[in-house]
Amino acid sequence: MAEEKKLIFSGIQPTGTFTLGNYIGAIRNWAPLQDQYRCVYCVVDMHAITVRQDPVKLRQHTLEAYALLLACGIDLDKSILFIQSHVRTHAELNWLLCCNTQFGELSRMTQFKDKSARHADDVNAGLFTYPSLMAADILAYNADLVPVGADQKQHLELARNVAQRFNQRYGELFTLPEPYIPDVGARVMSLQDPTKKMSKSDENPNACILILDDKDTIIRKFKRAVTDSDAEVCYREGKDGINNLMSIYSSVTGKSYEEITAEFAGRGYGDFKVAVGEAVADHLQPIRDNFARLISDKAYLKECYTANAEKALRYSQRIVAKAFHKVGFVDKG
Ligand code: AMP
Ligand code: TRP
Repeated sequence: MAEEKKLIFSGIQPTGTFTLGNYIGAIRNWAPLQDQYRCVYCVVDMHAITVRQDPVKLRQHTLEAYALLLACGIDLDKSILFIQSHVRTHAELNWLLCCNTQFGELSRMTQFKDKSARHADDVNAGLFTYPSLMAADILAYNADLVPVGADQKQHLELARNVAQRFNQRYGELFTLPEPYIPDVGARVMSLQDPTKKMSKSDENPNACILILDDKDTIIRKFKRAVTDSDAEVCYREGKDGINNLMSIYSSVTGKSYEEITAEFAGRGYGDFKVAVGEAVADHLQPIRDNFARLISDKAYLKECYTANAEKALRYSQRIVAKAFHKVGFVDKG
């Protein structure tokens, strides 16, 4: 008998326009997975409010994120794509998992430490229990694989531990999810400080490429990228800036590091930077075009997210109802 396809779950926060880091590290891997797996993808607006958001902007960013994911090739005939707050099972399972997650475990999360330092005036309980909600997202679908960038690995390990603990306490229910992290591009670094990851919260706008930046802007930012005083385009320890550009170039062109070194042998960094900028801009052009079309059709977007929230609810409800039963809640009639 044919084995059932494995299930993929991933989520992304609608906290502004996506960066090239989000794209290469996470989103671009989502569309190709649709042929091999059953995929469930989610815009995690509930995660976003763990740091203060302007409500008007959050709504706008959520719709933009939804449209951008469609623009990046998520196909609703193959996958489910929905908005987290539309599907109540996430909040419901979150509570059960919070009651099975330890204070000590949550305190060790690097992202919590970073974010609570950055938002010292608002270290709220949601920020602290964020990984339990993320575990609920994943476990409500019994996902096998979770494609994320390297920075999310620790959260995924926590999700596995919580799943395992729940299964031990209450009997087998949850699948233990595996991370699915790309070999190349799992960490796209800042163009201005290549020892730090590229992030939209960077104060220097030249540090970060946005997916929706136009071609000239992209090339200009790459031209200004910080490199080293060497002149050879090759991947080597200590050449963080060049390593980062090579990794970006490799992930949009498919060329290996050896091929890239050969292509730019005897040419300076200037040529290389322009080539990276052009390759990235050309790669992103169809996404920008699709996005412009989709974001102007709000009725179509609404149709998509409404139907998909229903599908997600139907799927996750079965698993969450079992979890409720296992912890001893009285079954609803
Ligand atoms: P965030 O923007 O931090 O909410 O991240 C959304 C997704 O993009 C997560 O899967 C991250 O792992 C991934 N991601 C964010 N920044 C980078 C980066 N600079 N390089 C690679 N992946 C990233
Ligand atoms: N925490 C993830 C991030 O910041 C977003 C996220 C929320 C997620 N729930 C998820 C990713 C479930 C994968 C699976 O990027």
